[in-house]
Amino acid sequence: MLSSMFTGVSQAASNSPLSLAAGIFTVSLSTIYLLQRPCRTSKVPFTQERVLILGATSGVGRTLAHKYASRGAFVCVVGRRTAMLDEVVQECKALSSQGGFKERILGIRGDCADVQDMLTLRDAVQGAWSGLDTVILTAGVSALQPLMSVAGIDMSAPGPVGSQANADGIQHAVKAATAAVNGNFIGPYVVAITFIPFLTRTSPSASIMLLSSVAAVIPAPTRSLYASTKSASLLLYQALSIEHPSVAFTFMLPGTIEGDFRASAVDNPPGAPAPKIHEADPNKHGLKREVVADRCMRAIDKAEKLVFTPVYFRVGHLLYWVWPRFMEWRARVKYNFKH
Ligand SMILES: NC(=O)c1ccc[n+]([C@@H]2O[C@H](COP(=O)([O-])OP(=O)(O)OC[C@H]3O[C@@H](n4cnc5c(N)ncnc54)[C@H](OP(=O)(O)O)[C@@H]3O)[C@@H](O)[C@H]2O)c1
Repeated sequence: MLSSMFTGVSQAASNSPLSLAAGIFTVSLSTIYLLQRPCRTSKVPFTQERVLILGATSGVGRTLAHKYASRGAFVCVVGRRTAMLDEVVQECKALSSQGGFKERILGIRGDCADVQDMLTLRDAVQGAWSGLDTVILTAGVSALQPLMSVAGIDMSAPGPVGSQANADGIQHAVKAATAAVNGNFIGPYVVAITFIPFLTRTSPSASIMLLSSVAAVIPAPTRSLYASTKSASLLLYQALSIEHPSVAFTFMLPGTIEGDFRASAVDNPPGAPAPKIHEADPNKHGLKREVVADRCMRAIDKAEKLVFTPVYFRVGHLLYWVWPRFMEWRARVKYNFKH
């Protein structure tokens, strides 16, 4: 079909410029049409969609759970804190029944990085709904400090005394890295292996959304551990997206979001009682959870691939490769990092 269209364009080109323009226009429209995925809602209507949200006890995951429940979806919420999980289940049941829907909400306690938890979860979903259409992975942990301070090194101390890492400090930093890798990479890794075959075999239009971060593609000070572990899961899922073309993968890359995410920091320096926050208050300057959740749902519904929020971060990503010094300066300013 495409080859006959291209033949038409070359014939048009030999006739007149107007025909050439018309030919190009036709090819462009046809290409856009061919490249677009069929509308997902025709295969999975909103009120039939079976949605699993991993990391739904707080933050964006909890807001997404509310929104899917209100829309009439079958929703399974997952997290490790049992009391908060019970709360979100009750909230979702209330929203679901307000819309006239019954028996559509599940809550399963589980750690994404725990193989047995994920198998138990898959069995529960299979038993309740016989399959799954949408997997949303919002679970993740933060890490907020300059790496040397995680190892207890004061880089501002003058001279060689106290400026070298010792065994305890390095060990402490390794422990922080293990927790960050577990939360931000092993969790998504276990989830992918557990759920991709299940999704593929049970949904007419399978979809996976990974809530990553703009930090995964634009480096920032105080975020070396966080950014590198989020980047690892992003690359993992981007490669899986090529290995599993029948599943629509969506990668969300938001900037700072309001909420308590920083409380999950795994990299407090030795002896530090609470994480030191370097940037402006996320609850004053961050994206609203509602806005991020709405954007996630739209991206999943439309099978969008890579979504930056706000959209200008897409330019920042490109700018890093053409003018890295400028982006490094901007990152230092944002994170109030002087060195
Ligand atoms: N907040 C930001 O500024 C920001 C910016 C860009 C990207 N992001 C990304 O957005 C995602 C959500 O952030 P948020 O602001 O909504 O944070 P949040 O309120 O801390 O939510 C994280 C959720 O993940 C769950 N979780 C963490 N580790 C888990 C595990 N191993 N197994 C199961 N559940 C787990 C937590 O529940 P339990 O503790 O109960 O398990 C919680 O429900 C994160 O992946 C983060 O990297 C955040």
